[in-house]
Amino acid sequence: MVAAHRFPAVDMHLGDPAAFTGIAVQGLSKSFGPKAVLAACDLTIHKGETLVVIGRSGQGKSVLLKLIVRLLEPDAGDIWIEGRQVTAMSRSALMHVRKSFGMLFQGAALFDSMTVAENVGLILQEHTDWTPARIRARACECLELVGLAGSEDKLPSALSGGMKKRAGLARAIVMEPQYILYDEPTTGLDPITGDAINDLIVKLQRELNVTSIVVTHDMQSAYKVADRMAMLNDGHIIFHGTVDDVRTTEHQAVRQFIEGRAEGPLGVF
Ligand SMILES: Nc1ncnc2c1ncn2[C@@H]1O[C@H](COP(=O)(O)OP(=O)(O)O)[C@@H](O)[C@H]1O
Ligand SMILES: [Mg+2]
Repeated sequence: MVAAHRFPAVDMHLGDPAAFTGIAVQGLSKSFGPKAVLAACDLTIHKGETLVVIGRSGQGKSVLLKLIVRLLEPDAGDIWIEGRQVTAMSRSALMHVRKSFGMLFQGAALFDSMTVAENVGLILQEHTDWTPARIRARACECLELVGLAGSEDKLPSALSGGMKKRAGLARAIVMEPQYILYDEPTTGLDPITGDAINDLIVKLQRELNVTSIVVTHDMQSAYKVADRMAMLNDGHIIFHGTVDDVRTTEHQAVRQFIEGRAEGPLGVF
């Protein structure tokens, strides 16, 4: 079920970002050496919605996620989260904001020598004064939410790829985040396992009421989890709109991407 109608399709005219309750990205630019990965990108993510950012490999999708939580520093532009300018924050304020984010990064490895429950609880051990029993109980609760009840005491090596992703997701939600950033959550999974991850993303949005950004080049996943989509290409957000807008667009580069064609304005290489 996609609730594409719940959020406005286009909102380039953000108005006052300090009054915006979601995440607002304004004029964000980032280069590595001579390569401009992002060039003055604008994007808004409304509270409670799932925005899917699509685009080819190497177009700066992962960089965008890292910039939002300042794991990378932008060259220019601003990021606002609930009206607070992340780009101007002190280190301690930034740490506080980061705690409201759950992140499922690509290949975010679990520690091999720790059980699944210990992996999920690790961040609580670092950031709370909870007892080991309470930490374990919370870890188990999150594992149950992602369908991994019964795997608490397994080592990561005993898990399939899909189970590892789910364990990573349990770890991402253990601190009760308000925001979740997903980097290619279905990449490398078989289609059925990938779809189970899509269902989980939708479930977490509904049950935890989180605001999410999902970066992917998996269109099946994008259609399933998105409230709105944006396409990143050549440093720019070349398109954004509802799922229906994407399905019906005449924008040739977007059509080429969503149809997975080699021929078209994007070229092959
Ligand atoms: N830390 C970094 N240092 C130098 N170049 C980087 C760094 N991170 C990403 N890049 C480059 O930025 C571009 C975009 O990368 P990325 O965001 O990972 O793409 P995507 O996630 O869309 O596949 C790539 O050309 C990549 O090589
Ligand atoms: Mg990436």
